[in-house]
Amino acid sequence: MPSGNQRDLYMKWCGAVKVTEENDIIQAALQEWRKGIESMLGIQVGSEANPQGLAVAFGTFQGENPLIRRVFGEETRRKVGPEGFAIRTSEDTGCIAIGAASPAGVLYGVFHLLRLIGSLKNIEGLDEVVNPVNGLRMINHWDNFDGSVERGYAGRSFFYENNQFTGELERIRDYARLMSSVGINAIAINNVNVHALETLFISKYLPEVAGIAGVFRRYGIRLFLSVNFAGPMHEGEVGTADPLDPEVRKWWQDRAAEVYAAVPDFGGFVVKADSENRPGPFTYGRDHADGANMLAEALEPFGGLVIWRCFVYNCKQDWRDRKTDRARAAYDHFKPLDGKFNDNVILQIKNGPMDFQVREPVSPLFGALERTNQVIEFQIAQEYTGQQRHVCYLVPQWKEVLDFNTYAQGEASPVKRIVDGSLWGSRHSGIAAVSNTGNDRNWTGHLLAQANLYGYGRLAWNPELTAEAIAAEWISLTFGPDPAVSGVISRILLDSWNIYESYTAPLGVGWMINPEHHYGPNVDGYEYSQWGTYHYADHKGIGVDRTVKTGTGYSAQYIGSNAERYDSVEECPDELLLFFHHVPYTHVLHSGKTVIQHIYDTHFEGAERAAELLAAWSSLKGSIREDLYIQVEERLKEQADHAKEWRDQINTYFYRKSGIGDAGQRTIY
Ligand code: GCU
Repeated sequence: MPSGNQRDLYMKWCGAVKVTEENDIIQAALQEWRKGIESMLGIQVGSEANPQGLAVAFGTFQGENPLIRRVFGEETRRKVGPEGFAIRTSEDTGCIAIGAASPAGVLYGVFHLLRLIGSLKNIEGLDEVVNPVNGLRMINHWDNFDGSVERGYAGRSFFYENNQFTGELERIRDYARLMSSVGINAIAINNVNVHALETLFISKYLPEVAGIAGVFRRYGIRLFLSVNFAGPMHEGEVGTADPLDPEVRKWWQDRAAEVYAAVPDFGGFVVKADSENRPGPFTYGRDHADGANMLAEALEPFGGLVIWRCFVYNCKQDWRDRKTDRARAAYDHFKPLDGKFNDNVILQIKNGPMDFQVREPVSPLFGALERTNQVIEFQIAQEYTGQQRHVCYLVPQWKEVLDFNTYAQGEASPVKRIVDGSLWGSRHSGIAAVSNTGNDRNWTGHLLAQANLYGYGRLAWNPELTAEAIAAEWISLTFGPDPAVSGVISRILLDSWNIYESYTAPLGVGWMINPEHHYGPNVDGYEYSQWGTYHYADHKGIGVDRTVKTGTGYSAQYIGSNAERYDSVEECPDELLLFFHHVPYTHVLHSGKTVIQHIYDTHFEGAERAAELLAAWSSLKGSIREDLYIQVEERLKEQADHAKEWRDQINTYFYRKSGIGDAGQRTIY
């Protein structure tokens, strides 16, 4: 809670609120404002201006609020986009005014002002127009109807339990508040792997779905559903799911009409097809444009979208086959289809070519699709980055991806400009991410994993925000303004990705985890599997040759200097060396170290630094709420122990393979 002058300043403006519109979203904004001010300043917000005649006013430009009409002229209004807002401290009219073109914009503006107060920012002299950079700012739930969450590390689903909707609309409302406070405007509520009963979400279970959509609606969020491509065959209704079959097309059109009758603002379908044993158009000799367009036609009359995932690869690969390269798959499947998708189809592309590893290159599909709507997919759930038992603040990783220059249109073609639609002028674009939430009281299991959820929303709204600024906001909003506390937590978060990387799979090669559940070290866990995930370590060297001359040719999927840099063993950045090249353990990195010494050094240091995270956290004992302190302490203890396990397994494995000792003569088993 702010104190002294700062508090007086906030009190001066925030005691009264002027709102005239009855619209549900504006009323939700009003509730948020009252709640937020009450909890941060300890005062009740009234509707009469205080003795100095000051108030906060908000509403749409079209609304009746005289203050909004007076404060914002034509010029400002023109700058405000459909979901943006203008905010101004207006001494003349005696108010801080938030005006927007839509009720959702008003809500975002109110959250903005609350955030400024929560992070002790000055609110006098405000004068800005804020628009979200990305149109679609989406969360994908991998929640199953039985209540489990695929790759969920924060308890069970709050949407479902035991093949029923939980009906916990209060919890769901809190979730919607949380999400809209960081600007999320689209949520798919079920797993992309759509099982039997979930197939009926677009028919039998529509009343329950509509209930959740109603909660979301008040917070400016559109509900999406993942659908089963073989839906038409599910109950034997149609004998095929062939996208060119008229009966199949009719089936989807009828479903779309039913869905929109129940949920008029339904967002659309998310589809995982021909991927990891899910059905898809390949069964019928059709391509993914045929499949996606069929669904797009069904949704088009209602303004719905098809979000079609590009995570398509051969998951039954023979490990002896050195030609097939999973990394190539998304590009090889989708590049030839560029320009063939309907206007309301959006391709959803994972950030990297493999699967959310701690380090992998940016997917070369970014830059390859000029005439196709696309969104990037991140994974907030820490499937491969410590499963919310280790701290791993992912915002720096996501920023690196978004800033990556694809050279698709000359020098300045970063991924973020493809994703926001500006590079190719795409009709639909944005960001999606797999949620890390569950019914754990703190939402994310590891308290510090909340920073990823918060940070994802903030970054989707504005990719120019820095990882440091986002961390600082989240810390201040969560733990209060104490700079000593903030300093410690901020260092923990900002160092965490690098620390996690240093004690796990080295130099971009990825995997080395236990099969199926994906937690903990297992260097050969996926080496002889069918999933296309290999490191090829032998007694001489390690890494995957993805070069043009001697390897899989994956490096040529990049444009210009990226392709050259990755293809060249001399120029390839150290952190991705083993992703692109097979090299001897004695290969010298740009850092001056050999690969084997790098492995030893990073693993010894990584485990030490993990232990230091715990020590740093211990310094906060007494400065933050005890229960919060303990939650994180427990997880950091596990991380410190587990990092040693990683260190010893990886170091021992490579010592035994290579026979080369550690220059530092530390203990290897
Ligand atoms: C990963 C993950 C799966 C998930 C898949 C997907 O492979 O392990 O659980 O279904 O990604 O993104 O579809």
